[in-house]
Order: sequence, then structure tokens, then C-alpha cells
Amino acid sequence: MDVISVIRTKRDKGELSPEQIDWVIDAYTRGAVADEQMSALAMAILLNGMNRTEIARWTAAMIASGERMNFDSLSRPTADKHSTGGVGDKITLPLAPLVAACGAAVPQLSGRGLGHTGGTLDKLESIPGWRALLSNEEMLHVLDTTGAVICAAGDGLAPADKKLYALRDVTGTVEAIPLIASSIMSKKIAEGTGSLVLDVKVGTGAFMKNIEDARELASTMVGLGTDSGVRTVALLTDMSTPLGLTAGNALEVRESVEVLAGGGPADVVELTIALAREMLEAAGIKDADPAKALADGSAMDHWRRMIAAQGGDPDAALPVAREQHVVTAPSSGVLTRLDAYDIGIAAWRLGAGRARKEDPVQAGAGVELHAKPGDTVTAGQPLVTLHTDTPEKFDYALQSLGSAWDIAAPGTEFTPNPIVLD
Ligand code: URA
Repeated sequence: MDVISVIRTKRDKGELSPEQIDWVIDAYTRGAVADEQMSALAMAILLNGMNRTEIARWTAAMIASGERMNFDSLSRPTADKHSTGGVGDKITLPLAPLVAACGAAVPQLSGRGLGHTGGTLDKLESIPGWRALLSNEEMLHVLDTTGAVICAAGDGLAPADKKLYALRDVTGTVEAIPLIASSIMSKKIAEGTGSLVLDVKVGTGAFMKNIEDARELASTMVGLGTDSGVRTVALLTDMSTPLGLTAGNALEVRESVEVLAGGGPADVVELTIALAREMLEAAGIKDADPAKALADGSAMDHWRRMIAAQGGDPDAALPVAREQHVVTAPSSGVLTRLDAYDIGIAAWRLGAGRARKEDPVQAGAGVELHAKPGDTVTAGQPLVTLHTDTPEKFDYALQSLGSAWDIAAPGTEFTPNPIVLD
């Protein structure tokens, strides 16, 4: 087998054979196929696609590149959730302890942010002492004793995806449905969860900008999970505007704790409960009431135990950025658009995200929103507050907000998108 014939097959719109797929994934993981060759193949896949048989084989080959975990020793059913990524998407933080409080075990292997989308691990690392890197034994111990664990995937899990995802990120080949579906599902199947709920984001702040593409991605991933024996369901959810009122690491932890305390923004609460219901159903847990577990403090108890078990202090003050800059509404009226992508870029430029994997992030940086689409605003009132430790970044962040919102005449009828689209 040689890599050039594999690249040519896909370049010429052919179907990759199972042997070609197994060989190229294995050779790339071992370093026998070079990055420039794999990036040519990834671009050919982005342009010419893969059919379901190819995607299933590609996913299986990525799983086979590393180890598989299993949670058979746990007494509770496992339920996991994966979001395809968005702005202000802090849902994993309240969701994992909430679902644990309702009786499932939640093994949540999470990632870091890159570009305009935030990462769960970066958010949690703003809690003093909290550790994302756990050994497999530590992960199982935290899961067993607290019901939920949120941590980084170990190096042994789907190593082919680790290499390929980093390569796609710098070669403009992230937004390919076969590559996204196989990347996400190889990690989830290798992780060994019994059930999985996918939160497939749609809108300007998501990888999938329209609902047709999101539906295709969702059904591809549900098919991959189901065929591997993982009970898998997907929700299509809105990412045209940020979730909640914050985008940034410590800012989002603070908002998540508000949700766990029974408050917090309505959209975050609604999506957290909707996903919790799906996870509990997929895990076969009946008669649990996630809304009650938020209200009666049991989700908060699980959060505190989970954070402490990973070295964090749930009572410690969260970091606050050194400088703030308030942007006011330019006119009075009804806010009809507050763009997720533009806000995500601003938060990233302020220091909440990184441009390269090795860059540090600022815990306190980000954007706080004072209004959401559908709200009435008055000229001069605060619309967003920018937070950063490096005030020289304010101008750069402000450039991304130049056309981030629309304000219609006072009294304009406007109904914001529902959070759960399908
Ligand atoms: N998240 C992943 O894990 N992989 C992708 O390709 C996109 C989002």
C-alpha cells in the first residue's frame, strides 16, 4: 500500500477500500505517513466526502489506533454528552453533576478551546487547584465516588484522532462532516460509555452553519454510535447567539454555579435540563427529575464533591480580569441579533482562548452580555462588558464587534430562536 494511491483515490472522487483506510490511519499514527500527505487526504475528504461505509471504517480504524476503556465495574449506568462546540457553551459544568445527582455515572472526557469556541477544561482550570489530567485509575475513582468526572482524554485514547485533529485545525479541514463525525465518535466509543447524547450546534458560532448540515452530521454520528452498541441520540440546538450571558473561562464557571444554585440564565437552565432528560432516558433511568435536583441542592452537592475530588476548591474566589471596558447600546429599540461568532472572536482576542495549542489562556478574560436577542435596550445602556488582563487587546477585540448586533425600532415584534431546534 502507498499513501499517494490513497490520496489519488479520494482526489478522484473514488471510494476508499477498508484496507486503504486501515492502512492509512495506522501508518499516520506510527509516523509512516507524513503530515503533508495526511493533510492532502483530509482536504480531498473535505471536498469529495465519504459514504457511510467509509466513515464507519475510518471511525473503527481511529478507535483501533489506541486503547478502549470500560466502565463495567460501576454499579450505575453511564451517560455522556458531547457538544460540537459553541460560544458560551458551559453546559457540561452544571449538566454532569446534575445527571449524577439523578442516578447516572457521567464520564465526561472534555477538550480545550481553540479559535472562537471555548473548552470545558480551560473553564474548569480557572478554579484554584482543579486538575484536568487524571490517570485512568483516578478517573474511575472520581466517577465511582462522586458520580461524575470531567477530565482530559488520556494519550492512549484514539491517538490517531489527536494527531489528525491538530492537523485539521491548521489546514482548514475541520468543517468536514465525515471527519467531525469520526473524530467525535471514535473518542466516545473508545471511552466506553453506554449511552451518549449529542448536542449538535447550528448557527454562526457553530461549525455547522445551517440546519441541513447539522442534521446530516447528527444522523451520521447517531448511526456510528448505534452500530457500535452505544445508545445515541442527538439534539440540534441554536448557536446563533451565545449561550447564557458570558463567554470566557472563570466568567462561565461563575454562571454555571449560579445555575447549580437554582438561578442562572433561562436558556442555560433550559438546555441543561433538556440534555439531562435525554441522558437519563438513554441511560434507562426513569422517574428522576432534573429540575428538582437543581432546585433542592443535590446537583450542587455533586458539583462540590466532583470539583474537590479533582483537587479544586469549590469555595475559592474565581479569578477576575484586571481591566474592564463597557460597550453601550448605540440606539434604543429591540435587540434582534447578537452574533455568537463575533462575541466568540472578541472573547478569544481578549485572552479567553488560544491561537496555538501551547498558548496559555487568561482565566478572567471574556465577554459579559447585558442583553439577549428579544430584549428591549435603551441608547447608552451597557450592552457588553469586555474583560481582560491585557487592556492593549481592547481595540483588537472591539474590531470584531463592529457588526455583532442589530437593534430594531422600539416596539418591533421579534421572537428569538428556540434553544432546542429539533
Ligand atoms: N470536536 C471534535 O472532537 N472533533 C471535531 O472534528 C470537531 C469537534
